[in-house]
Formats: sequence, C-alpha cells, structure tokens
Amino acid sequence: MALKETLLVTGGKGFIGTNLVKLLLNSGKYQVVNLDALTYAANPLSLADLDQNSDYVFVKGSITDRELVSSLFKQYQPVGVFHLAAESHVDRSIVHAEDFVQTNVIGTFTMLEAARVYWNDLPADRRKSFRFLHVSTDEVFGSLGLDGYFTEETPYAPNSPYSASKASSDHFVRAFHHTYGLPTIITNCSNNYGPYQFPEKLIPLMIMNALSGKPLPVYGDGSNVRDWLYVEDHCRAVKAAFEMGMPGEVYVIGGNNEQKNLNLVHKICDVLDEVAPPEEISQLRDSGLKSYRELIRFVTDRPGHDHRYAIDAAKIQRELGWQPQVGFEAGLRRTIDWYLSNPKWVDQASGGSFGDWLQQNYAWRAEKESK
Ligand code: NAD
Ligand code: TYD
Repeated sequence: MALKETLLVTGGKGFIGTNLVKLLLNSGKYQVVNLDALTYAANPLSLADLDQNSDYVFVKGSITDRELVSSLFKQYQPVGVFHLAAESHVDRSIVHAEDFVQTNVIGTFTMLEAARVYWNDLPADRRKSFRFLHVSTDEVFGSLGLDGYFTEETPYAPNSPYSASKASSDHFVRAFHHTYGLPTIITNCSNNYGPYQFPEKLIPLMIMNALSGKPLPVYGDGSNVRDWLYVEDHCRAVKAAFEMGMPGEVYVIGGNNEQKNLNLVHKICDVLDEVAPPEEISQLRDSGLKSYRELIRFVTDRPGHDHRYAIDAAKIQRELGWQPQVGFEAGLRRTIDWYLSNPKWVDQASGGSFGDWLQQNYAWRAEKESK
C-alpha cells in the first residue's frame, strides 16, 4: 500500500475544517496535522473521536505564530496546506474588525511566509507537487443585483470588514504565486450549511432558537439572497482543487441554490414543525406555540448588508469534474437531524460566552416589527 501523505490543515476544528478533516482521513490517502487556536468558533467535541487515530495530530496554536508554524512544516514535512483558519462571521467583524485583520490578513501572510521558506528548500519533485490551498469566500466580490453571477473574473469589491480581510488574504496568496512561484490555489465559495456549524450563522441559529422558543431574527425584510451549498460538497470541491487544480488558478464554488433569507427561515420552520413539533418539545409544550413560524421577528438590518450572492461554478465543473451532490431539501433535513441528534455538541456551542455575546453586541438587532 502506498504511504500516506501528510497535510497541514489550519482551522480544522471549525465548521468546514471539521468536515474536511473527516473527508481527508476517510479517503485513506492522508495523514492530517490540524493547527487550530480553538477560538470560540471551535467546539472541543468536534473531532474528539480522532484522539486515538494515528493518522491525526492536533496542535493548539495560532496561525499568527511564525515560530510554531515553521516548526510544524519542519517536523511534519507536509505535501501541502489546506488553509481555513479565519475569523468568519460578518456580524462580529462589524463590531471587532481588528481580530479579522490579525487572523485573516496577518495570519494568512504568516502561513504563506512559512510555507515559502519550507517549499524553497524542498527537492525539485516535491516543490513541483506542493500546493497551498487557500479557502476563501464569494463575499470578496461584493453584492449582486437581481441578476448575474460571480465568476473567477469578477472584480473584487468587498463590503464588510470580514470580506475586506478575506480579500486582502486572497491578494497575498495571489502575490506569493506571482512573485515567488509558490504553487497556490484559491477557492471562493458561497454560504455553507450542515453539521458542526457554530450557531451564530443563519441556519443553525434559527434551528437552535426555534427549539428553545426564542425569536427568529430576520434582518431587514428578509429579501437578501444567499447561494447555499452543503458543507460536504464544498469539502469535496476543495479536495478536488488541491489534487487536480492548477497552481495560480482560482475556482469559484457554489450550490446553484439561491434562497431568499425569509423563504429559507420558513423552510426551516416547516421541517421543524414536521420532525420536532412544539408540542413534543418539553420546554415548549405549555407555550401555546403551534408553528415555529410564529417566532419569526423582523429586526433592524445588518449595516452594509450585501443583497445577493450567486455563483457560476462552470469552471470547476468543466475542469475538475466537480458538482454538488446534495440537494437543498435533503441537505437541510440532514442538517436539522444532526442538530437534533447531537445535544451535547449543541450545549457546548450554545453555552459559555455565546449568549452574552448576542446580548451585548448586536445593538442593531432591536426588534423593528413583529410578525
Ligand atoms: P469557523 O469560524 O467555523 O472556524 C474557524 C476555525 O479557525 C475555528 O476552529 C477557529 O478556532 C480557527 N481559528 C480562528 N483563528 C485562528 C488562528 N489565529 N489560528 C488558528 N486557528 C484559528 O469558520 P468556517 O465557517 O469553518 O470557515 C472556514 C474557512 O472557510 C474560513 O476561511 C472562511 O472564510 C471560509 N469560508 C466559509 C464559508 C461559510 O459559509 N462558512 C463560505 C466560504 C468560505
Ligand atoms: P450568515 O449566516 O451570517 O452568513 P453571511 O452573512 O456570511 O452570508 O447570514 C446569512 C444571511 O442571513 C445574511 O443575509 C444575513 C442573514 N441573517 C439574518 O437575517 N438573521 C440572523 O440572525 C443572521 C445570523 C443572519
């Protein structure tokens, strides 16, 4: 049997990282070194079952720590990097942009510098096959109007501190390829959903608030549009880009699945009404709630809220043969099932500082009108 190759994954305890590490290990081809700072977004229960797996090493530390990152390259001699570690939530970036500059900009730069020094000293064949895969977002392209799609040629126009920091990191990745020849690949993906997503993001927030009888806050009038992709499909795309993509190339990734926020929240409520009706939830039995839709509240809009994101993923389909496999209806049901079946993970994610954060920082969430 061929020897397994070693990969350095950053942010592998986060939402996409957890799903990606599982996919990479399950492929049987790789050993994974997972560097993660364990911020609020990482759940200690995610990947806890890998503790005894000899193909997996977890390292707690920051991508901004140059000495640590360089020592990991030296010690583990990876064939490539999947760089996911980031501050990832737009609402938080509106309140604390500095963390986003530190991690997303300085951290990515630190990863690139350490990778470049390591890569420079590799033998010729390993230099050629090395890849630095940078996982980015479609939000770097700004907001679309009613029609049109983002492609690899769309000019950058980031609108939030989050997307500005990701755009900056993309530019550094591009520059390291152009200037030093580092074999980088950038993927820009649309909104992901699925198991292990921290419940500050729309879909898990709505599921968890509904199940505890809390309001479901819809920003503005709920007409903003996102293109939702099931997280395992994203992970398959990123793996394909790493294994088959061309250095210096960009691939945009999307689900071809545009949903208005309000329609999406309705769908979540409808599935929950069916699989976990309020009268069957002990906490809600005496509340008089008949449908979770009754919990929807329109709240003050997010400042600078991008109206619409949508992706034309023709390039990755044509060149790498990737396309989404999980339909939205099935993916949403799978996601809801997962949150219902993993109460310990949910408790861990929703405890601690999470509630405090929501109360203190979301000043614009003051309820505007109710429905
Ligand atoms: P997440 O917030 O769930 O996880 C981020 C992970 O990075 C956490 O485990 C956290 O502990 C770790 N981290 C944060 N700062 C760190 C640091 N300084 N050093 C080391 N680790 C650190 O994020 P996610 O949703 O899994 O997103 C992963 C990547 O994918 C990000 O780069 C994000 O920009 C990108 N992306 C996300 C989406 C989405 O819909 N979630 C879509 C497109 C692209
Ligand atoms: P989010 O999951 O934060 O992802 P992003 O802002 O990166 O697209 O939000 C998805 C959409 O849902 C976005 O248009 C903002 C909206 N939203 C709400 O209406 N209410 C909420 O409580 C949250 C978190 C998001």
